[in-house]
Amino acid sequence: MAIKSHPSLSYTQIALLLFCCSAKAFSEALSFQPGISYQYHYMLDLKVKHISQPSMPETNLKIDANVQTYLLWRNKSQLEEQLVHVQIKDSTVHRNNNSNSVIKHVIDTGNLGRPVLFHWISGKIVGLYGTKEDKSRILDLKRGLVSLFQFQTFSGIQTEEDVSGTCSVTYQISDGSIKKTKDLSSCTALPFGYQADNTVFGVSLNSTSKSELSHVGGTIQTAASEESHIVYLRATSLLGSEVASRQYLELKSSIPGPAEIPEDSVQNILKLLPEKYQKIEIASHPQRRNEGSHLLKNYLKTSPKKLTKLTISKVSTTRQFNAMVKMLRHAKKRDILQLLQKAAGELVPFYIDAAVGAQSSASLAALSEFLDFSKKKQVSLHEKFLYSAALAPHPTKEMLNLVLEKLKGKVSDPVIMETGIVVIGAIVGKMCKMKLCEIKDVDIAKATLVEGLHEAEEESEIKIYLLALKNAQLPETIPLLLQYAEENGGAVSRKALAALQSFPTEMISTKEVKSTLRKIFHQTYQEYDKASRLIAAEILLVTEHSQMDLINIILGLEDINTEASKLLLSKIQRGQQIKNRLRKTEKTLLTNKHLYNYSKLSQSGRSTFFSGPLTATKDVSSTYGLDLLFTESGLLKQSISDITLFGHNNHLKAMQVSIEAEGLESLFGDGTDDDDDEHKDATVGMSAMLFDVQLRPVVFFQGYMDLVSKVFSSSGDPISVVKGDVLLIDYLQRLPMQSGLQAIVEYQGGLGLEVSANIDVSIWEQESKTNINTKASLVFEFTTEVDTSFFQTDIKAQVDAETAVDFDSIMKFSSFPMLMCLELRQNNMPYRETYILSESLPEKNITYTKRKGRKATLWGRDFPFHSSNSEMCRSLLTADE
Ligand SMILES: *[C@@H]1O[C@H](CO)[C@@H](O)[C@H](O)[C@H]1NC(C)=O
Ligand SMILES: *[C@@H]1O[C@H](CO)[C@@H](O)[C@H](O)[C@H]1NC(C)=O
Ligand SMILES: *[C@@H]1O[C@H](CO)[C@@H](O)[C@H](O)[C@H]1NC(C)=O
Ligand SMILES: *[C@@H]1O[C@H](CO)[C@@H](O)[C@H](O)[C@H]1NC(C)=O
Ligand SMILES: *[C@@H]1O[C@H](CO)[C@@H](O)[C@H](O)[C@H]1NC(C)=O
Repeated sequence: MAIKSHPSLSYTQIALLLFCCSAKAFSEALSFQPGISYQYHYMLDLKVKHISQPSMPETNLKIDANVQTYLLWRNKSQLEEQLVHVQIKDSTVHRNNNSNSVIKHVIDTGNLGRPVLFHWISGKIVGLYGTKEDKSRILDLKRGLVSLFQFQTFSGIQTEEDVSGTCSVTYQISDGSIKKTKDLSSCTALPFGYQADNTVFGVSLNSTSKSELSHVGGTIQTAASEESHIVYLRATSLLGSEVASRQYLELKSSIPGPAEIPEDSVQNILKLLPEKYQKIEIASHPQRRNEGSHLLKNYLKTSPKKLTKLTISKVSTTRQFNAMVKMLRHAKKRDILQLLQKAAGELVPFYIDAAVGAQSSASLAALSEFLDFSKKKQVSLHEKFLYSAALAPHPTKEMLNLVLEKLKGKVSDPVIMETGIVVIGAIVGKMCKMKLCEIKDVDIAKATLVEGLHEAEEESEIKIYLLALKNAQLPETIPLLLQYAEENGGAVSRKALAALQSFPTEMISTKEVKSTLRKIFHQTYQEYDKASRLIAAEILLVTEHSQMDLINIILGLEDINTEASKLLLSKIQRGQQIKNRLRKTEKTLLTNKHLYNYSKLSQSGRSTFFSGPLTATKDVSSTYGLDLLFTESGLLKQSISDITLFGHNNHLKAMQVSIEAEGLESLFGDGTDDDDDEHKDATVGMSAMLFDVQLRPVVFFQGYMDLVSKVFSSSGDPISVVKGDVLLIDYLQRLPMQSGLQAIVEYQGGLGLEVSANIDVSIWEQESKTNINTKASLVFEFTTEVDTSFFQTDIKAQVDAETAVDFDSIMKFSSFPMLMCLELRQNNMPYRETYILSESLPEKNITYTKRKGRKATLWGRDFPFHSSNSEMCRSLLTADE
C-alpha cells in the first residue's frame, strides 16, 4: 500500500494567504502629502429635544464652514508621522426657528478661525497645539474637528483619547473605508458632577457614537460621525432629553499649498512659526455657566426677616428647597453660617436640610460650626442634621467625617448618640454601594460600628449597633449577625435577624446563613422566642430554599402558636401565588397534603399578611403592604405597614412603619397569654424606615404608669414623626461629544415630607384610635443645556405633585377577640408638568422660549385590605352607632 501524502500548502501559498488576510484587516496609513492644501467642507449639526414631548419644538443648529489643512512637517524616517495645520474658515450658523424656516446668522464665532496644529502618526493623534487666545468652548469645537481625523487603519479594539475623553473603540476596516464605534460607557473623562446609586430614582443614559471615513490612497475623502445620547429618569421617563450631534467633512479640492518645513523635531517647527503655539489637551474640559456665590448674598439681603413658618408638604416649599440647595452649592461658608444663625423657627431645620443637600465643602463647614452637639438646646437640630445626612443620596467622605467628628466630641443627649450610630450605618451603606467602600474614611467608620457592637454590653446598646449594621449591609458582617442571632435569645436575636432580612437576597442565600436559620427555626440546640423563629423562617423562604425547607417549616409550625403560623402561612401562600404566576407549570405546593392540613388549621388565626397595588405608571409601580400579628388572646402584637416602589428590576422601601406592642394583656385583661412576653410591662414602640434607611426606634410608652401619664399629659395634637426636605434625586453629569460640544444634564428631585401620628387611647372605653398622616410634595426638575458661547440651548422640565395619605386604625379591646378596623386613604393628588425649550444667540440679542404645560388631579381613593378587615370595620362602625 502506498502512503498517500496529505495535500499540503507550499510556503508561497501560505505567504499569499497571510497577505490576502492581512490586506483585509489593514488599510493604507492616513497621511497628508507635502505641498498640497486640502480644502474640505465641514458641517456640524446639533439636535436637542425632550424625549417624551413630540409636540414640543426642538433645537436644531447647524454650523457650516470650510476647513483648510496642509502638512507642515513629517518625520523623514517615518512618513506617517506628521504635523498638520488646520484652519476653519467662513463659518456660518443656521438655526431652524421651529417654524420650518431656517435662519442664517452671521455671527462672530470668536476665535474659531484661528488655526490649530495636530501631530499624528498613522491616524492616531498624539498632540494638539493651539494659541493662548482661544476661548475654551471655541477650542472644544476645534478639538472635535481634529478628533474627526483620528482613525486607525487596522481592525480591532483600541483605547484612544479624543475630545470626549479616553474611550474604547472598535475598528472595522474594508476597502477604502474605516468604521469606528465608540463605547461611550467606557470613556473616562475629567471628573465632574455627581450621581447616586439609587436604582429606582436613578438616571438612565443610552449613548451611541459611530464614525466612518472614506479614503483614497490614504487621503481622507469624507469623514462623518454621529452621536446620540438619550437620558431619562427611571422613575418617570417624562423627564428626559435626546442630544444628537453629527459631523461631516468632505474633500472639495486639493490645491497647491505651502511647502513642508524641513526640521528634525516638532518643537523646532513650533519655534519657527509666527504664532505662539502651545501643547493643549485633546480632551475637552467641563464647562458650566458660572452661577456665582452672590445669589445667597442677595437672598440674605432681600428675604423676609420675620418668616418662621413653612408648610413642608406644599409644592411651593419643596420648590424653594430645590432652589435653596442650588444656591448653597455655590455659596461661601460665611454666608451659609449667617443664614443658619439668623434664621428662626421652622426655617432653621429647613436650611439644615438644604445645607446637607448641597453638601459642598462650604455648607458642611458652616454646619460643623453651627451645630454644637454639647448644647442641649440644639438637640432637635442635631437629630434633624443626622437624619438629613442619612437620607442624602450620595454622601461624601467629608459628610461621613463630619458626622463621625460630631459624635466623637461631647454629645449632650444619649438619644443623639444612638441616632448618630444608626446614621453612620446608613452613610456607610450608601458609600459602599457607590463603590467607595474601600476608602480609608469608610474603613474607619466600618470598624467603629463593628468594634462598637463587640464592646456593647447593654441590650439597648447592642440593638442600636445591630440597626446600624442593618443600614450598612456589609457582607463581611453577616457572620457577626448570625452569631448574635444564634447566641442571644429574645430582642437581640430578633434585631440581628431583622438586619439580615434587609440584606439583598443574593448576599444571604449562602449555606452558612441557611444552616443558622434552620437551627433557629427548628430550635436544634436551644430555644428561641417565636418572633425570632418567625423571622428566621421568613428569611429562609425568600432565599433560594428547597421544597424540603418549605415542608419542614410547615411541619415546624406545629409548636408555634396559631397566630404566628397563620401569619407565616399567609406569607407562604402569597409567595406561592406569586411563584405560580411566574412559572405556571410548577406543581402547586398548596395541594401538598401537609400544607392542606395547615392551611385549614391556619383559618383559626387572625394574623395576616396583605399587599396590594397603590399606583402604577409605565415606569414605576408601588404597593402597600400590611403585616399583622396578634397574640393568642387576640391583642395586636405587631403591625408592619409599608409602601414599596418597584421599577427597573429594583425596589425601594419608601416607608415602613412597624408598631410593636408587648405585654398589653396586663392592661386589657386576661393575662393568659402563652406568648414569650407574659409578665412584661406593657410597652408600645415604633420603628420606621424611610427610603431604605432604618431610623432609630422610639418608645411610645413603657408600663402602665407611663401610659397613664402620657394619656393625661397629651395635648391631643398629633406627634410629628418625620418632617423635612430631602433630595431623592441629585444628578449632574456632562456628556462630552465627539463634535466638541458638551451637554450638561442635571436632575434634582426634592421631597417635602411630613409624617405625624395621633394616638388616642381611652382606657375607660378600652379603645384606641390611631391615625398616621403622611403629607408629601414632590418637585422633580430636569435640565439639559448645551452652550457654545455664541449659541445656548436649554431644555427644562418639571413635574410636581402633592398628596396626603391617611392610615387609620380603631381597636376595641372590650370585645373578645379584640375588634380592629384599618383604613388607608389617599387624598386627591394634584400634579403638574411643565416643559420649556429656550435658545439664545447672545450676540444677536435673540432669545426664543417655548413653554408647555399640563395640570391634572388624580382623585383620592380608599385602598382595600383583607376581607376580614372590611367585616370588622362594618361591625365596629355599626356598634358605634
Ligand atoms: C421664524 O422665522 C420666520 C421668518 O423669519 C418668522 O416669520 C417666524 O415668526 C419665526 N418663528 C419663530 C417661532 O420665531
Ligand atoms: C439604546 O438605544 C438604542 C438605539 O436607540 C436601542 O436600540 C437600545 O435598545 C437602547 N438601549 C437601552 C438599554 O435602552
Ligand atoms: C521619527 O521616527 C523614528 C522612527 O519611528 C523615531 O525613532 C524618531 O524619534 C522620530 N523623530 C521625531 C523627531 O519624532
Ligand atoms: C392532618 O392532621 C391530622 C391531625 O393532626 C392528622 O391526623 C392527619 O394525618 C393530617 N393529614 C395529613 C394529610 O397530613
Ligand atoms: C442687545 O441688548 C443690549 C441690552 O438690551 C443692548 O445694549 C445691545 O446694543 C443689543 N445688541 C444688539 C446687537 O442689538
